[in-house]
Amino acid sequence: MTVPIGVLASGRGTNLQAIIDAIRSGYIKNAEIKVVISDRAEAYALERARAASIPAVYLDPTPYKGRREEYDNLIIKTLIEYGVTPEEGLVLLAGYMRILSPMFIQRYKMRILNIHPSLLPAFPGLRAQKQALEYGVKYTGCTVHFADVEVDKGPIILQAVVPVYDDDTEETLSERILKEEHRIYPEAVKLFVEGRLKIEGRRVKIL
Ligand code: GRF
Repeated sequence: MTVPIGVLASGRGTNLQAIIDAIRSGYIKNAEIKVVISDRAEAYALERARAASIPAVYLDPTPYKGRREEYDNLIIKTLIEYGVTPEEGLVLLAGYMRILSPMFIQRYKMRILNIHPSLLPAFPGLRAQKQALEYGVKYTGCTVHFADVEVDKGPIILQAVVPVYDDDTEETLSERILKEEHRIYPEAVKLFVEGRLKIEGRRVKIL
């Protein structure tokens, strides 16, 4: 069976690209990206989707200010329209800059993955690389985890570690982390699609 995937992205979409490439090359089998949805019309992720002949949908959030559930319902409706159902689908957050409502998370329970540019639970939230530099850690990295109602707190699937160098800037550190993101996000998707992730409380065992 092919797992239908929906990707939510707000920005340049390099993680989206890594997953497109991993499906194309056959690294991830039995999965298809059915739709890429963005809350920003100018998100380069939408361009990447179009270039790969994947439906690219912009959903304008401005009429939904203060009504997150209604906007999320629109996303859910769109996902379902493209075949990404809560029963069989997989939703990937790839630089999606909005917080999902608990309703959305419940609906796609343990079928939403996120990537975050730090070793969670360290440095959740925005500009994690800057937070790591300011804190002075010698190592940081990235985390792929299931999305849960609490932001950046769901069960962890994979992590990768990168060193922090004395002369690092937010940009150089981000770039080093990004390389690892592009490796572990496709790997986590592959494990999910192959049914090899077993969730036991907070722990995710890889079968
Ligand atoms: C990545 O650093 C990811 O960890 C974070 O947002 C950024 C998205 O980058 N959640 P891109 O749009 O995939 O290039």
